[in-house]
Amino acid sequence: MKELEERIAREGTVKPGNVLKVDAFLNHQCDVALFNAMGAAWAKHFAGKTITKILTIEASGIGIACIAAQHFGDVPVVFAKKAQSINLDGDQYVTRVFSFTKQKEFPVIVSKKFLNAGDHILIIDDFLANGQALAGLIELCEDAGATVEGIGIAIEKGFQGGGDGLRAEGYDLDSLAIIDAMDAETGSVTFRA
Ligand code: G4P
Ligand code: NA
Ligand code: NA
Repeated sequence: MKELEERIAREGTVKPGNVLKVDAFLNHQCDVALFNAMGAAWAKHFAGKTITKILTIEASGIGIACIAAQHFGDVPVVFAKKAQSINLDGDQYVTRVFSFTKQKEFPVIVSKKFLNAGDHILIIDDFLANGQALAGLIELCEDAGATVEGIGIAIEKGFQGGGDGLRAEGYDLDSLAIIDAMDAETGSVTFRA
C-alpha cells in the first residue's frame, strides 16, 4: 500500500535492534484516515471471504481493527488480553507466547464467550515480526474451533521471517507494507517489491 509505505519513509524512524518507530501515525498517535484506507485495502483483498469477527491483540491492534471492521459490515472486534484480568467470569482460552522483540513471555487470553466454533476470523495487527503474537492468536482460534480466514497486517518486517512462515503454512496473509531491510545508521527502509 503506497500511502503506508510513504508514511513509513517520511515519518518512521529506525532504532537499533531492528525496531521501527511509527508512533506518529500508527501506535501512539493514530491517523484515523490512514487506518480507514488500510481497512479498505484489507476489505478489497479479503472480498471473497465471509468474515464474522475480527480478532486482534492489545494494545496497538485495537484501533486499527475497529476502523477495519467498518469495512467488513461492522463485525465485532475481539482483542486478546495480555494480562489476566481480576474479574474472572468463566472460561478463557489461554496460551503463552515468547516475544523475541520484547524479550519476554506473556499470556494471550480470550474469553470463551467471544470466540466460537462457528466464527470465521480475520486476524488484524499492526506489526508482524517473528510472529509469536500471531501464533498465539491462531492457537486460540484453533482451541475454539474457529476458522482463520485471513490475516491482515499493517507492517511486516519481512526479514524476520514470521510472515513467510505463515504463508508457507498456507495462511492468506495480507501485509500492507513489507520491509525487507532497514538500517539504523542511515535510517533507510527498503520495501519488498
Ligand atoms: P516477535 O515474535 O518478534 O515478538 O514479534 P511479534 O510479531 O509477535 O510482535 C511482538 C510485539 O512487538 C507486537 O506488539 C508488535 O507490534 C511489536 N513489534 C515488533 N516489531 C516492532 C517494531 O519494529 N516496531 C514496533 N513499533 N513494534 C514492533 P504487541 O504485542 O502487539 O503489543 P503492543 O505494542 O501493541 O502493545
Ligand atoms: Na500489536
Ligand atoms: Na505494537
